[in-house]
Amino acid sequence: MFSHLPTLGVGLGFREPFKSDLFLNRQQVDFLEIVAEHYLDAPVQKQQELELLAAHFSIIPHAINLSLGSAEGLDTDYLGKLAALIKQLNPPWWSEHICFTKAGGVDIGHLSPLPYTKEAVEVLCRNIAEVRRWVDVPLILENITYMVTLPGAEMTEAQFLTEVVERADCGLLLDVTNLHTNAVNYGYDVRAFLAQLPKERIVQLHFVGGHWHDGILIDSHSQSTPLEVWELIDEVVDCASVKGIVLERDENLPPFGELAGELQKAREIGRSHGRWG
Ligand SMILES: [Fe+2]
Repeated sequence: MFSHLPTLGVGLGFREPFKSDLFLNRQQVDFLEIVAEHYLDAPVQKQQELELLAAHFSIIPHAINLSLGSAEGLDTDYLGKLAALIKQLNPPWWSEHICFTKAGGVDIGHLSPLPYTKEAVEVLCRNIAEVRRWVDVPLILENITYMVTLPGAEMTEAQFLTEVVERADCGLLLDVTNLHTNAVNYGYDVRAFLAQLPKERIVQLHFVGGHWHDGILIDSHSQSTPLEVWELIDEVVDCASVKGIVLERDENLPPFGELAGELQKAREIGRSHGRWG
């Protein structure tokens, strides 16, 4: 069902500080992911930056503040701007998170987890149906990390993610680091979790490393990718027809050569499973 999507290969989450290095290492990056919010209501120089990037790379818009899990519905002003950006870029797919970031008119400023309930599934499906009235590009949904779990769960997280993507007919952006982080912090078996996910819906992966603080693994996007995450990537790329993988480094940016080394490692994993060249 997502098999018709093109293979993009190995991508990088674009961050302004490494713009020059990106162009100097152009051949190592197959595509870019941009944070959509950086280009909504953007000043002229950001719009020019986007035009420059789009002239040289395929670009996947990654939204973080649509708040698909908001029971009150979506901010249509925001949705209209996001839809215009996606239309401008004309990507093969775009992505958002399975979470909420707005409630009761308040912008929480954080990707917040939803309760694993049928009602939350209904809310997501209703909001995604509204999104489809504005955007006809395939939507893939990302699993988040969380520091709290909400009471009243009627299913497991893996069942919830599966129910959402199947009912809303979306692809899955599996953040392998998020999966690893939650498994470590909540002590669950990551392989058992993976086994429950609908592999045929996994379109794209995210990966990066976080840091430890007081015995908790923090999803800080600030370190190189740990061995456990590389092993998981290898397993997922083996069993799912992944179309693209994106390194999502935000903090503590290293020399670009280190990022390029991680991209090369991801390239070799995909190549070994015949996913990309
Ligand atoms: Fe992510």
